[in-house]
Amino acid sequence: MAEIDLQKIVSHCKEYGFIFPSSEIYDNLGAVYDYGPFGVELKNHIKEYWWKSMVQMHENIVGLDSAIFMHPTTWKASGHVDSFSDPLIDNKDSKKRYRADVLLEEKIDKLKEKGEKELAKKNLSAASEEEKAKASRDYAKGLTLEAEYTKAAEASDFKRYKELIEEYEIACEVSGSKNWTDVRQFNLMFGTKLGAVDEDATDLYLRPETAQGIFVNFLNVQKTARMKVPFGIAQIGKAFRNEIVARQFIFRMREFEQMEMQFFVRPGSELEWFAKWKETRMKWHLALGTAPENLRFHVHEKLAHYANAAEDIQFKFPIGFKELEGIHSRTDFDLTEHQKFSGKKLQYFDSELNQNYVPYVIETSIGLDRMFLRVMSECLMEEALENGETRTVLRLPAALAPIKVAILPLIKKDGLPEKAREIMDVLKFVGRTFYEEKDSIGKRYRRMDALGTPFCITVDHQTLEDNTVTIRERDTMQQDRIAIADIEKIVGAKIDMNNLLRKAI
Ligand code: GAP
Repeated sequence: MAEIDLQKIVSHCKEYGFIFPSSEIYDNLGAVYDYGPFGVELKNHIKEYWWKSMVQMHENIVGLDSAIFMHPTTWKASGHVDSFSDPLIDNKDSKKRYRADVLLEEKIDKLKEKGEKELAKKNLSAASEEEKAKASRDYAKGLTLEAEYTKAAEASDFKRYKELIEEYEIACEVSGSKNWTDVRQFNLMFGTKLGAVDEDATDLYLRPETAQGIFVNFLNVQKTARMKVPFGIAQIGKAFRNEIVARQFIFRMREFEQMEMQFFVRPGSELEWFAKWKETRMKWHLALGTAPENLRFHVHEKLAHYANAAEDIQFKFPIGFKELEGIHSRTDFDLTEHQKFSGKKLQYFDSELNQNYVPYVIETSIGLDRMFLRVMSECLMEEALENGETRTVLRLPAALAPIKVAILPLIKKDGLPEKAREIMDVLKFVGRTFYEEKDSIGKRYRRMDALGTPFCITVDHQTLEDNTVTIRERDTMQQDRIAIADIEKIVGAKIDMNNLLRKAI
């Protein structure tokens, strides 16, 4: 099976109507993408999988759909105005802007990778870090830079970032020069205005995360849904960030969607819940049939000021192991800050303890687009067939597939199209169907494989005689003759979202 790189995924998504660059006829808008006819179906199924497993399957989690625009003080209270920023550095010759932390992290990776190659030749890949550092100068340099960078990051010492960039002779990829400006902090929030007249307009931000909509509605939800701690509020929605390094397709976008859940717990019980949610979320990911070695936890060394524990679930994307979901123990920081800034109490009366308190919060936060990229990365395959040909197949879990069943009349005449449409009229109540009569049957099968369609139904002359069809299964390519009356049962059983949900919770 051939390796699928990011470029292949990008081309596949464009060619088969999953994802298009935004405003393509005007030469695109950087790091913004549009989902095409099959992309939007897949994305909706991922949302459904998340929503059902988080909200429908947990009686103590309820949903919310809060607005993108929020009162500007929200972002002062949450800390985003003062500290939601990236350290940027410009090359004076090319004028190209970089994230200083990314330059340093890439340099560390390069040094270690170079070292690893050297160590592999010496059969030292499994040696201890100390032995590796002794045997390879590059590996040792990588480790030293990593230690220095971590120290600087923990102290938010951006002057040191620049010194390290200079000491390790990091050059601009455009000009090749090492002529750098100082490192400056750049806020990632997009600003906009509310109001018709400029002077009276209020400065607003497009939300950089959906979580704050949950926090400010904490009491509204708790009271109206009659929730008792511990309980959660879940929401799916758009978020906006003015990302500087945004060149990895839908991995890092300027407009993206998040699926977030804030779980409110008694103070003191948060680390126990943190461990539970880590386990629950990993189970959700594994239920998709992912090889366990492609998923791992990554512990945050440097905790945000509001967190007392934080881990990421990382997935092995074609660009390496990267963050897919964050699980954070956010303490009572957000609710307490909103109390302070709004002057309104955001407390819960715990009748069992006979006590008022500000609940602590465990957050699970996953990017929907990043989840889409993960699904594409693990399901898109190029397989060598016995006849020497290669087929491109998207082995999606059937519950996520954009089209559930394709109906293909063998030829465009003799009443076969009419019979096919009759079958389609029944199957459209089971899931999304697709009718196709153009091209040879082999070509039509290949197109459905590339779209991830789990079943193809072929209607031929025998169908008119005995009401049977050929059903072809995507993964095995096996073809069976079955009665039309049985299609609904066979397809329905395979595409049922409950197949995933039963494994996920
Ligand atoms: N409320 C917490 C929060 O927003 P985060 O780690 O900044 O935490 C959570 O974001 C998740 O959102 C990430 O794990 C990632 O999946 C997704 N995400 C963040 N920035 C993104 C971007 N620019 N493009 C696509 N997805 C992004």
